[in-house]
Amino acid sequence: MLEPFAKPFYITQPLLPDIDEFNEMLKEIWASKQLSNNGNMVKQLERDLSGYLNADYLSVFSSGTVALQLACKVLRLSGEIITTPFTFAATAHSLVWNNIKPVFCDIEEDSYNINPDLIESLITQNTTAIMPVHVFGNPCKVKKIQKIADKYGLKVLYDAAHAFGVKVNGKPISDFGDISMFSFHATKIYHTIEGGALTYKDPYFKERADSLRNFGIRSLESVTEPGTNGKLNEIQAAVGILLLKQVEDEIKARKEITNLYRQMLKEIPGIITSKDMEGVSHNYSYFVIRINKEEYGISRDELFDKLLEYNIIARKYFYPLCSNFQCYKDLPSSSKLKLPVANKIADMVICLPLHGRMRENDVEKICTIIKAFHEG
Ligand SMILES: Cc1ncc(COP(=O)(O)O)c(C=O)c1O
Repeated sequence: MLEPFAKPFYITQPLLPDIDEFNEMLKEIWASKQLSNNGNMVKQLERDLSGYLNADYLSVFSSGTVALQLACKVLRLSGEIITTPFTFAATAHSLVWNNIKPVFCDIEEDSYNINPDLIESLITQNTTAIMPVHVFGNPCKVKKIQKIADKYGLKVLYDAAHAFGVKVNGKPISDFGDISMFSFHATKIYHTIEGGALTYKDPYFKERADSLRNFGIRSLESVTEPGTNGKLNEIQAAVGILLLKQVEDEIKARKEITNLYRQMLKEIPGIITSKDMEGVSHNYSYFVIRINKEEYGISRDELFDKLLEYNIIARKYFYPLCSNFQCYKDLPSSSKLKLPVANKIADMVICLPLHGRMRENDVEKICTIIKAFHEG
């Protein structure tokens, strides 16, 4: 009989900077007497991140959600935007906060990303952009999406919240589309406690986004448009500067844990694990499995509840679908008939705990428990 974990085993654990190095950074901030408003730490973080992500231009924000909201303003989007229902609430919400109507498009069965073959049928004269999400850090079909955007004169705004550091055939993920957004929330592989970034190829986009995150203030006596307060502060920027030095090791450690999970779960009937995609450098930010109840014996929901009994805190990412939220369920594109794959997948997926400090025997224990449920 397997014992539950003594303490809750959470879905993830944040990467933390070395406390002494952080103290040194704090001393610098204290000496500068500047805590916010685009200080030295924020400027350095933007330089370091542009280098790491290979982005021409980049701005940091107080959250990924604010970054997405401002990206819509920078691209002057309006009307309708085609996006995926299989994502976190912030994707669709950021559109609605801009008075834009989200139009949900079904997803691909294997990648869980927006299905580019279905996008064209959703384009109307009100469509201004496509907003795909690189779900779990797996790149979308970027070429196909760009081709459609070019054909109809649409912008492409990528929600790359999960895709920090991901590359496709050696190209940084931020190379695709007009703007990409990365989330730096503490649950993400790389973080600034709360925070986010936008990457752009056009310097004018950065100029506008930087002004929009600071109330639209252009200079001491000039406010050009109604911005918001989306600034990252100096202390969080210091966390970001330090964690950037650790993120490669975190990705490597997570890759090992992921491969161990894949190895240990592969023999269990009804459990489908993710695979690496050809030509992609993954960041291993999530470990998601899919449950086929008929073969495994119990449903995803039953597995989730049983894991809780063992103190394993998994997550039903992404359930419920955005299209089934109370606030979006009445949109014409939310009909379950139009989103059969997304509705099916949302009932099957579950993310298991993953972070770089997990030990081999933690993974073995979680997998043994999952196997035991199958054997009844
Ligand atoms: C796909 C996706 N988009 C947007 C966000 C919003 O980012 P943030 O939490 O930094 O505001 C998240 C964050 O959790 C996310 O997972």
